[in-house]
Amino acid sequence: MSRRASELTSPPAFARRPSALDSPTSVSRRQSGASSRRPSIDPSRLVPMDKAHHIGGSDDFNVVFVGAGNIMFGSDEGPWNHSFRFEHKLGPRLKVVALIDPAVERATTVLQKKCETFVRSAYENTRVFKTLEDFVRNMSKRDMPRAIIVGSPPMFRGTIQPGRDIESQIMKHFPGVAMFIEKPAATGPASELPEAFQVAKAINESGTICSVGYMLRYLRAVQMMKQIINENNLTVMATIARYACAYEAIAKPDWWDKSKSAGPIIEQGTHFCDLSRYFGGEVDMSTVNAHSLEWDENAGHLSKMSVDETAIPPENRIPRVTAATWKYDSGAVGSFTHLVALQGHDYSCELEVYADGYQLKLVNPYVQPVLYIRKPGSDIEEMHRFPDDDPFFSEISVLIDNIEDIEEDPETAQILSSFEDACKTYELTWAIRLATERNRKIKKDAEASTTAA
Ligand SMILES: NC(=O)c1ccc[n+]([C@@H]2O[C@H](COP(=O)([O-])OP(=O)(O)OC[C@H]3O[C@@H](n4cnc5c(N)ncnc54)[C@H](O)[C@@H]3O)[C@@H](O)[C@H]2O)c1
Repeated sequence: MSRRASELTSPPAFARRPSALDSPTSVSRRQSGASSRRPSIDPSRLVPMDKAHHIGGSDDFNVVFVGAGNIMFGSDEGPWNHSFRFEHKLGPRLKVVALIDPAVERATTVLQKKCETFVRSAYENTRVFKTLEDFVRNMSKRDMPRAIIVGSPPMFRGTIQPGRDIESQIMKHFPGVAMFIEKPAATGPASELPEAFQVAKAINESGTICSVGYMLRYLRAVQMMKQIINENNLTVMATIARYACAYEAIAKPDWWDKSKSAGPIIEQGTHFCDLSRYFGGEVDMSTVNAHSLEWDENAGHLSKMSVDETAIPPENRIPRVTAATWKYDSGAVGSFTHLVALQGHDYSCELEVYADGYQLKLVNPYVQPVLYIRKPGSDIEEMHRFPDDDPFFSEISVLIDNIEDIEEDPETAQILSSFEDACKTYELTWAIRLATERNRKIKKDAEASTTAA
């Protein structure tokens, strides 16, 4: 269905509170954490974009985008493209009032492309600024955003240091305005972890609506797994996750440099650490142990890297395999193996969740999710496919529904990934990296003392 057709035929959507932004009840409800919304989503309500109507109403919905890169405007690397999902969710109401990016030329180019298409009305008045402060200095009252979407690199967020504190800047200049923050919550030395939690506390205390980009939580398959666990009152016994990326397709030099991207667990494996936590619950960080296969070990040689690794200082080169285990507070056990081993394009990723009598196995969540379910009383695995599922759209759709505070639909989901929760995933990924580095040092020290003897 074309955009135009859906505009003409869509029924009036759910009624909204006219001043949801300022509603004291909604703010106090969020602050108290007493949400009437469901902590999970009925999978049948997660519909692909072409079957969803854009949200009702006729007033402009002002949005600020921070970052004009791949996550915001798409690339060949994957299905992500937030602007596209905003266009579909908000229809003609979308007005991108500012695009913040120090790479002004890149920002201008993506806007020009948008203005050549039928979504022109959302972008024809968008202004480009190098920083959020520049926008604040130059904005008029009419530009006040309803949401600020942060898709800049993670080194610029999750701390309270100037220039790396976008969340605090947003809360200072735009109190009450909703935020969407891409994953991971931060990237910096492990010593800065408490700062990320400080940011989370400030977000919670201010009652700001904030969603973090762990979109796999919004997969229909993932919500079906949640539904089975909830409806059968199951206790998770173990999570087993495996994430094998196709390294040949990863051409960003920064990705291969731990000093820039913090390594593949913090940057990429984070999605599966997060999903593991979504099912297993809180992790006892003191139990996290992990081993790695490193670039300088015989088995770690890769023949098809598309970057020149010799340009990266040896101490910053990334591990090829990381295998971690931990205990959840519940007693359940988690394990995660990340591999930089496959060539070609597609990743090979699986998550298994076990409970008494049950095996829930999620396969290929990025490309074509399949869920295999084994239940008590049978050795047969049921297979479920989820064609056309779009978790990126569902994530944005839920965010907008929460901002608009739809009253007439008690089933509207709550945001599935808060900043505080994302900090806990960030903490787990750091604990895994530190454990591998600890174990590598023990091995190296042992080798050195054998050589010396
Ligand atoms: N959820 C997912 O599946 C997914 C997929 C891709 C990227 N991401 C995340 O999105 C974020 C951005 O990744 P990307 O692939 O779009 O990177 P990118 O390099 O393609 O784009 C980042 C953009 O941010 C701009 N930028 C740099 N500093 C800035 C600042 N201080 N303020 C505003 N803009 C700034 C850069 O100039 C660039 O245009 C990362 O955190 C990444 O992990 C998530």
